[in-house]
Amino acid sequence: MRFKKRWSVKCALCTFGIPLTFWLGIYILYWELQLSDRPDSRRQPIKFKARKPFKDVDENLKLISELENSFFKSGDLEEGNKPNGKTDEKGHQEDYDVVKTQELGRIFNEKDREMRDHGYKDHAFNQLVSDRLSLHRKIPDTRNELCKEIVYPSQLPTASIIICFHNEAFTALLRTVHSVLDRSPSDLIYEIILVDDASIFAHLGKKLDQYIQKNFYKVKLLKTPQRLGLIRARIYGANFAKGQVVVFLDSHCEVNTQWLQPLLAPIAVDYHTVTVPIIDMINPDTFVYQPSPLVRGGFNWGLHFRWDPIPVSTNHTVQPIKTPTMAGGLFAMNKTYFHQLGAYDAGMNIWGGENLEISFRIWQCGGSLEIIPCSRVGHIFRKRRPYSSPVGEDTMLKNSIRVAKVWMDEYADYFFQQNWLAKKYSYGDISDRLALRQRLKCNSFKWYLDNIYPEQTLPDDKQSKHLELRMKKDVHQDKIVRKGSIRHLESGKCLQTDEEIFTKKALIVLAPCQQGLAKQLWYETDESELKLASKLCMDVDVGKSQQIMTRLAKCTGLSGSQNWIWKSKDTAFQVYNPTVGMCLCSETYAGGMYAGVSICGETPSQLFTFVT
Ligand SMILES: *[C@@H]1O[C@H](CO)[C@@H](O)[C@H](O)[C@H]1NC(C)=O
Ligand SMILES: *[C@@H]1O[C@H](CO)[C@@H](O)[C@H](O)[C@H]1NC(C)=O
Repeated sequence: MRFKKRWSVKCALCTFGIPLTFWLGIYILYWELQLSDRPDSRRQPIKFKARKPFKDVDENLKLISELENSFFKSGDLEEGNKPNGKTDEKGHQEDYDVVKTQELGRIFNEKDREMRDHGYKDHAFNQLVSDRLSLHRKIPDTRNELCKEIVYPSQLPTASIIICFHNEAFTALLRTVHSVLDRSPSDLIYEIILVDDASIFAHLGKKLDQYIQKNFYKVKLLKTPQRLGLIRARIYGANFAKGQVVVFLDSHCEVNTQWLQPLLAPIAVDYHTVTVPIIDMINPDTFVYQPSPLVRGGFNWGLHFRWDPIPVSTNHTVQPIKTPTMAGGLFAMNKTYFHQLGAYDAGMNIWGGENLEISFRIWQCGGSLEIIPCSRVGHIFRKRRPYSSPVGEDTMLKNSIRVAKVWMDEYADYFFQQNWLAKKYSYGDISDRLALRQRLKCNSFKWYLDNIYPEQTLPDDKQSKHLELRMKKDVHQDKIVRKGSIRHLESGKCLQTDEEIFTKKALIVLAPCQQGLAKQLWYETDESELKLASKLCMDVDVGKSQQIMTRLAKCTGLSGSQNWIWKSKDTAFQVYNPTVGMCLCSETYAGGMYAGVSICGETPSQLFTFVT
C-alpha cells in the first residue's frame, strides 16, 4: 500500500511535473525571442504573443536557402559576371558583381555606421548598401537558357503594377519601380500604382512626390486615408487599376529580364489562370542577388505557408508549374477576374494568411494557380517585418481563422487542434465571404486536397513529420577550404569560443594558442564561413550597439553576417565582414580579450593569420 502511494506520487511528478517544467521553459524562451524580434520598442508598445511563431516569408528564406544549397553550387552566379565595377554619374554601383557588391557595405566612419544601424531598425535590411547601389543596377539573368529562346506573342494584355508600401526605404522603393520600367516592354505597362499606406517617414512625402513628377509619367501615387494594412491597401490600389491585368509586387523587389511577358501570356490564353514568378533572393545585408531553386507553395496545418519540392513527374524547366498555394507578395491576375473572385477578404487585418486564402479560393472556385519558371523577380528577404499592427493584434492568427472557417470545411479542425488560442480568438464577421463561396459555387476543401494537393498529408500521419524534418534537415554541405587556428598577430593569441563548441551565442574570445584544441579549430568553407569544429559559424550582431561582438550561431548558408573575407596585408590578413562592412579585431572588455569588429584601417589589432 505504502509502496503504491509513493509510486503514484512519483508517477504524477513524471507525467505532469516534468512536462510542465519543460513547456514552461519553452514558453519563457519563446517570449524572450518574441521580445528581441520586435520592432523598435520606443515607437510601438510591445505586445506579447503567447504562441508558436508562424513561419512567414522571412522564415521561408531559411528554408529556401537550405533547399538552395542542395540545388546550386556556389560560384554559379559569379561565372557570367566578371567584375568591371561600373558606376553611374553619382558614383552608385551600376554593374553587378558579387565581390563589388559585398564591398558596398563598408563602413568608413561613424556616420556610415549610424546610417546603417538606423536602416536596420527601420527596414530590417542594410539601407546603406541600398543607397550606394544605382537605382538601375544590373542583376544576373537567372533564367534557364531555354527561357531565352521563347518568343512571346506581341499582343498581350496590359498590366497595372500595384505596389503597396508602409514606411519603405526610398531607394529600395524606387529601385523596384525603375526595374519594372527598365525591364518591361513599355506598351505592356498601363500604369504603376504606388499605394502609400499611411507612411510616416519624411522621405516618402514631398521628396517622393517630386521624384515621381520629375522622373516618371506612368506612375501614380495613391495615399490611403488611414492605415489599411497590406491586404486592404491592395484592394484599394486594385480599385484604381485600369490595365487588363493586375500585377502585385512588394515594395523591395527588382524584377529580372523579361519577367512580365511570361506572366501575362498564360492569362491571355485563359483568364482563370493566376501566375506567380519565381522569387529570387536579394540578401538583406549585402544585396547580393541569388537565384532560388524551383519549389512550389504548400502549407501545413498550422496554416503557415511553406515551400514544397516539385513532384518529379513535372517538366519544370520552362513549363508553368501548378502550385497549391502562393507565397503572397507577387502575382498577376486578370483584373476583372480578380474582382469577380472576390479580390481579398477585406475583413483581414494588416498582414498574414491572405496568401493561403486567395490560393484556396482560386483553386476551389474554378481558377488555376501556376508558377512560371521563366519569370524571375528578386525580393529582399527581410529578417523580420519592421512594423507591427497598430493595436498589437495577432493579425496572422485572426486572418488564419477566417481562412479556416470560410474555406476548409471539416479540415478546419486540424488547424484548431494545433492552435488552442484560435478557438477563442475573435475573427470578426465572415458572412460575406461565406456568401461569396456560395455564389461562386466553389468546390469543397476535400476536392482541393484530392485534386490539387494530393501530396499533402494529415497531421496524424507520421510521414508528414518525416517530410518536414527532411526538408529542414541541414542540407548545407559546403566544401571545406582549409582548417586550422586563427592567430591574432598583435597578441599572439588564438580565436576560440568562450563556452563549448556547440553552445550557440557563445562569444568568441582570444586565448593562448593550444595545438589540437577543438575550441580553436576553425574550418573555412568555400562560402567564406568560419565554422568552429565544423559545427557552428562565426557570426556578428548587426545594428545592435556600438560595440559589435562576434558569436557562434547556427550556420545559415547565406552570404552575409557569417561571411569572413580574408584580405592580404603584407604578411598578415584583415578579415572583412561584408554585412557589417567592418573588419575583425581584438576588443578588450572587462579585462578579457574578445573578437569584435571595427572600421577597417591600418591597425595591428585587425591583423590575423590562419595557421593550418
Ligand atoms: C521539357 O521541356 C523542354 C522545353 O519545352 C523540352 O525541350 C524537354 O525535352 C522537356 N523534357 C522532358 C523530359 O519532357
Ligand atoms: C478578363 O476576364 C474577363 C472575364 O472575367 C474577360 O471577359 C476578359 O476577356 C479577360 N481579359 C483578358 C485580357 O483576358
